[in-house]
Amino acid sequence: MYVSSTVMPLDALTILPNRFKRMAAAKRSLVSQTPSSCCISTNSSTELAISDNSQDYIFVDPPFGANLAYAELSFLWEAWLQVFTSTEKEAIENRHQEKSINEYRTLMSECFAEAYRILKPGRWMTVEFSNTKASVWNAIQMALQDAGFVVANVSALDKKQGSFKAVTTPTAVRQDLVISAYKPSTELEERITRDGGTEQSAWDFVRAHLQQLPRFKGAAGRVEFITERDPRILYDRLVAWFVRHEVAVPLSSLEFQVGLAQRFVERDGMYFLPEQVAEYDRKVRQAGVTPQQELFVSDERTAIDWLREFLKKRPSVYSDIQPDFMKQIGAGWSKYEERPELSDLLEQNFLQYDGKGAVPSQIHSYLSTNFPELRNLGKDDPKLIAKAKDRWYVPDPNKAVDLEKLREKQLLKEFDEYRGFGGRKLKVFRLEAVRAGFKKAWQERDYGPIVEVANKIPDAVLQEDPLLLRWYDQALTRTGGDL
Ligand SMILES: C[S@@+](CC[C@H](N)C(=O)[O-])C[C@H]1O[C@@H](n2cnc3c(N)ncnc32)[C@H](O)[C@@H]1O
Repeated sequence: MYVSSTVMPLDALTILPNRFKRMAAAKRSLVSQTPSSCCISTNSSTELAISDNSQDYIFVDPPFGANLAYAELSFLWEAWLQVFTSTEKEAIENRHQEKSINEYRTLMSECFAEAYRILKPGRWMTVEFSNTKASVWNAIQMALQDAGFVVANVSALDKKQGSFKAVTTPTAVRQDLVISAYKPSTELEERITRDGGTEQSAWDFVRAHLQQLPRFKGAAGRVEFITERDPRILYDRLVAWFVRHEVAVPLSSLEFQVGLAQRFVERDGMYFLPEQVAEYDRKVRQAGVTPQQELFVSDERTAIDWLREFLKKRPSVYSDIQPDFMKQIGAGWSKYEERPELSDLLEQNFLQYDGKGAVPSQIHSYLSTNFPELRNLGKDDPKLIAKAKDRWYVPDPNKAVDLEKLREKQLLKEFDEYRGFGGRKLKVFRLEAVRAGFKKAWQERDYGPIVEVANKIPDAVLQEDPLLLRWYDQALTRTGGDL
């Protein structure tokens, strides 16, 4: 139950003097702070009359997909003023203007390209975001990346006072998000253009990116996990950066993780530059707690992440993992994703100790810490071996790379099956197989399979996965198609 908001027709003549007073006060305060550098403009952000590399900071509160039809909603007001919004460049999703999510994304890309042009290199832009749809979220992220921005942080913004829509619509978001993105330095841009997709360029990017990320998030007694420092997210950012520069990524996700561990410092599942970590350590010590990464299992990829965390804490036999696993893949599972068999996931991503040879150190340390009777036993003690046999554990990074290669082969085989599928649309499939297939085809500049399979999977799946959409988008451009 709630008290609904009361809608009251507002009298323009009462409102206007107040509005003018507030605008005049705002302008006075701006001019007094920065004389002669205050400018208000109403032209489209797809075309800004501001010179290149001239701005120190940008804040933007863009339209969010189909949330509000600004021009149409202002019709009466505009009719009264006899000044109408030019809707051609209005960046919204709107059936009557024949703008789908793709047109919205293109218009937002044009706006962000202008923001990128006028911002000084190395400087920041903040983008507010308020929508619950993954496709709109994805469109904003892609538009940012298309323009050349690198996203460095996303956090919740509590506006205190909810907007009219937030108060009256049950599904509207209660909290907005703020995205912080930066324009990379000129040197980084020059180096990738000069060196192309080398490993060197990859580490160069990661170093510069880590430099920009928050070092600590939290307050007294609370430490937040900084998602942007998660190796998987770092890899996604790297791939987006490379794909935008139209160069292939020279590292697989696991090779990337091995290299990351060699070059940077890991804390609680996050990576830091050596010079950043002391500050993090100090603040964690002060807070007295460590951050907990929240895992939400919705598809094969997140199920593997969940299994990895589970086995890291507790190397276990199949029957001990299974009940917990079943709970995870219940509610919240993505509608199009094939539910994987636990045994397949284990075989493709983890190792099982067969009781031969020394007990792997991960299992050894787990058993000797948790079972008093197994304490201080050597790795080849028969009692320890018996207890360790058949337990699954997390492979060390080098072994994991071998496993990943095998898994990729299987995924590509599955991708080929999707290509051969005779029906119109695939109902359920493995998103990981589609990702692997798109990646390979894109790297080989063989765009046909991408377009073929993209047409067989539901549009929503493409719209909600940033990488798939980007590969598909580029494949269409190369093959002369249109979104
Ligand atoms: C979320 S609202 C901003 C609200 C504003 N921050 C406020 O508090 O009143 C997004 C605004 O972007 C405007 N808009 C849409 N397309 C645009 C474009 N191409 N260039 C500039 N503004 C645009 C819409 O008319 C709308 O007023």
